[in-house]
Amino acid sequence: MEDLAFVVRKIIAETPLVRAVVLENVRDTALPDWTPGAHIRVKLPGGGDRPYSLVDHPDWRGGRHYVLGVRREEQSAGGSDYIHALSEGDHVEATGPINQFELREATGPVLLLAGGIGITPILSMASRLAAEERDFRLHYCGRAKGELAFLATLEPFCGARLAVHYDDTDPGRPDFSGLIADLPEDGTAYVCGPAGMIEAVKAAWAEAGRPAERLVFELFIATPAPAGGDTAFDVKIASTGEIVTVAPDQTIIEALEAAGHDVIYDCQRGDCGICQTAVLEGIPDHRDVVLSDEEKASNTVMQICVSRAKTPLLVLDL
Ligand code: FES
Repeated sequence: MEDLAFVVRKIIAETPLVRAVVLENVRDTALPDWTPGAHIRVKLPGGGDRPYSLVDHPDWRGGRHYVLGVRREEQSAGGSDYIHALSEGDHVEATGPINQFELREATGPVLLLAGGIGITPILSMASRLAAEERDFRLHYCGRAKGELAFLATLEPFCGARLAVHYDDTDPGRPDFSGLIADLPEDGTAYVCGPAGMIEAVKAAWAEAGRPAERLVFELFIATPAPAGGDTAFDVKIASTGEIVTVAPDQTIIEALEAAGHDVIYDCQRGDCGICQTAVLEGIPDHRDVVLSDEEKASNTVMQICVSRAKTPLLVLDL
């Protein structure tokens, strides 16, 4: 798909840390259609790109605008810093819309769960469900009052279907098991938020005996932050025997690309599964949310965009 060129039409401070950025097509034509859950990958000036979900904002429909919601990350690898430095009138390039977090055409009730800036794709899903008069509930979780973006956009069309939860206000985080118990058997849940929230919902979903295919999730972090104490390790490419060293502040994908290899990936957050690679020797340090506990324990497969190694060497089926 051809890249798109935009001018920043408007910037709206949603919260002290989150800004909505309205991108306008530089051409006087409509932008490609998109569906709830879609993202675009914004090109960074120093190379690379970052994914941002498209927000169905009622003030900016009509075809020539995309709206992003971007939180300033403390551990930004460039994406949120770049977006937060943009001014109205600046030029931006991005890919066309990509959707790996599709709202399904099912007719059953829907439970939407959003944590923090994970609201961006969930808002678009809620908007579509409301327009189609489908049965849904949205639970939106954040740390404190004043930190939840797009509340004023959500409230008019969600009404009583929206519940907000603050960590610092009783009763705090919602009881995911209780929310799942209230969802009829033919219901589907969509969750977007940080890894801890997704893992908690996945555990509650499995404990309730719900079918895995009815839980759809997307991890929402701009870029995985390096964990303190990460060390270098080697990756051996099984097909050639070449050994590539992964530095403490590099991902396996970054190290492979720096060594001149083409690698297939997308989210770089550990939630899409596209970079999944078979492990022939060594023990991965799993940091994704795609693999099941059983798959992680098997140590035969890993997501090379975020996961590292517990052993000095990993032999990968590349
Ligand atoms: S690129 Fe998405 S899980 Fe690795």
